Amino acid sequence: MSAAIRLPSVADLDLRGKRVFIRADLNVPLEGGEVADDSRIRASLETLAYVRGRGGRVVLASHLGRPKAGLPEPKYSLAPVARHMGLELAPDCVGPEVEARVARLRDGDAILLENLRFHAGEEKNDPAFVAELAKLCDVYVNDAFGTAHRAHASTEGLAHVCREAVAGFLLLREVEALARVRDQPAHPYLCILGGAKVSDKLDVLEQLARLARCRAP
Ligand code: 3PG
Repeated sequence: MSAAIRLPSVADLDLRGKRVFIRADLNVPLEGGEVADDSRIRASLETLAYVRGRGGRVVLASHLGRPKAGLPEPKYSLAPVARHMGLELAPDCVGPEVEARVARLRDGDAILLENLRFHAGEEKNDPAFVAELAKLCDVYVNDAFGTAHRAHASTEGLAHVCREAVAGFLLLREVEALARVRDQPAHPYLCILGGAKVSDKLDVLEQLARLARCRAP
């Protein structure tokens, strides 16, 4: 990664009339069946609004929580997220009924797919599940920065089979920010990291600690 990194972006494409699969990270905290913190939803809105404004037909997808063994669990339904965003929720994320609903979308419309992790193929990055997802889209947009470290069907596999695969604005911003602190850190260099799931962040912590020590003037 360098500070001059230039990822292919959603802004590079002609989107009108195309089915645009946006992989977002809408894995938000819920309380009493409603969204308790919508920060991640709000962070996803720029790409969503851009694609809709350009006449794309949005197929929005995300996981929520960690359902057991890839089976549907009502408590992990994306229904509260769909309500919060004012979007139609598909009954599943693949299959004939979902394909029919996506086929009915008009330019600028959007539909939210049900939790990708209700299928074991998502976390296994199963080519058969990737092929099912690919039936729903012409263009693939990865805007799920919070899940970009996972090689799952919707975050990795699908990017290889779609002719046009690009980054969304949230992903671009985060990659640029990381490139800056990695390649051109301002000094003095102070890193403060927060958040849950620390074990997933150890590699980044080690890298940043090394940079802070090695590059201090
Ligand atoms: C997160 O909340 O850290 C991301 O959405 C990834 O979720 P996961 O750790 O269950 O893959």
